[in-house]
Amino acid sequence: MRVELGDRSYEIHIGNDWLPQLIPWLDFIPRTSAMMIITDAKVAEIAGNRVLELMRSGGFKVELAVFPGGEDHKNLTTVGTLTEKMVELGLDRHSTVIALGGGIPGDVAGFAASIYMRGIRYIQVPTTLLAQVDSSVGGKTGVNLPQGKNLVGTFHQPSLVFIDVSFIKTLPEREYLTGLAEVIKYGIIWDSGFFGFLEQNQSAIGSRDQECLQQIVHRCCAIKADIVAQDETEGGIRALLNLGHTFGHALEALTGYRRYNHGEAVAIGIVLAARLAAESGVLSSSDHDRIQNLIVSLGLPTSYERLVSSDIINQMRKDKKSVGGQLQLVLPTGIGSSQVFANISESQIARVLY
Ligand SMILES: NC(=O)c1ccc[n+]([C@@H]2O[C@H](COP(=O)([O-])OP(=O)(O)OC[C@H]3O[C@@H](n4cnc5c(N)ncnc54)[C@H](O)[C@@H]3O)[C@@H](O)[C@H]2O)c1
Ligand SMILES: [Zn+2]
Repeated sequence: MRVELGDRSYEIHIGNDWLPQLIPWLDFIPRTSAMMIITDAKVAEIAGNRVLELMRSGGFKVELAVFPGGEDHKNLTTVGTLTEKMVELGLDRHSTVIALGGGIPGDVAGFAASIYMRGIRYIQVPTTLLAQVDSSVGGKTGVNLPQGKNLVGTFHQPSLVFIDVSFIKTLPEREYLTGLAEVIKYGIIWDSGFFGFLEQNQSAIGSRDQECLQQIVHRCCAIKADIVAQDETEGGIRALLNLGHTFGHALEALTGYRRYNHGEAVAIGIVLAARLAAESGVLSSSDHDRIQNLIVSLGLPTSYERLVSSDIINQMRKDKKSVGGQLQLVLPTGIGSSQVFANISESQIARVLY
């Protein structure tokens, strides 16, 4: 499928166990310019040499650059090291970077590519469910600062997204579930048919059935492509993708990014958003129950350890997405529809934080 963004348009190709098919899609890359594959240590072990050899067999001049991975290394120091390596390897303005891995190598490699020589091309080869359904599409890149996550970054669209769902086979269960939280999010905000598909295919989802996963990744990418094409830089509807994230980010931050991973925090955030929507009268109680039930039955958490609600609300105010300290919350208004609300009072929020 295609992400329509004028001269920044690009294609997303999705298949299963088809890594060698990457090469035919790379015709736009000159064989003469040096390339660099950026990945983390774990993905390097799983797939680094396979991708390197494949690229070399396709006639590309390419090297692998590996950084340790994890949020602790998603920072400017890593970007400094990687861009220096790009100089050493002779990458020029016509060069291309390959982001191989989950959202962390994706965001880091995309950011490095966006600032190297004022911006060179990169392609995404996502290997986690989260990266395949979310972070590899849409062109948000960036790294963390000591003060907070993703505080430095750019919009820089990839030139290609190549997805092989067979990578999902080796994902640890917790990482798989984190991606599922984003998958459920798409159904809630955008597509009731897709939400129903998830409800009906829970056992195939649980067993990571490759055919089912391919359909899921395809649907999520189509939704994200649609949203990004309408609102590339999040002036409007792209904000709907933040469902569950304002609560979720607050929960992650208040527990030091150790207690919950991103998807777990988002799942809890979605449940709280649904509860708030139901209590505010914008979501029916039956739709609220369907949301909560799907999250529970796919194995994601819905409740969290007791935190002080004023701490949560203060942390939510600090969210990058809030404007002038005014909270903006995405609430589901049905299965397949959602809206940004800017007028929710603290007392309404406090009431659902239990
Ligand atoms: N740019 C965006 O639009 C966007 C959207 C959502 C999230 N993000 C970012 O994405 C990051 C999270 O991404 P993530 O969850 O993919 O994290 P990640 O990249 O750290 O991957 C999670 C873990 O899985 C391992 N892994 C990756 N592929 C594997 C495979 N096939 N088999 C086994 N293990 C594998 C990684 O080494 C890592 O340990 C966050 O930093 C977040 O800010 C960005
Ligand atoms: Zn997310």
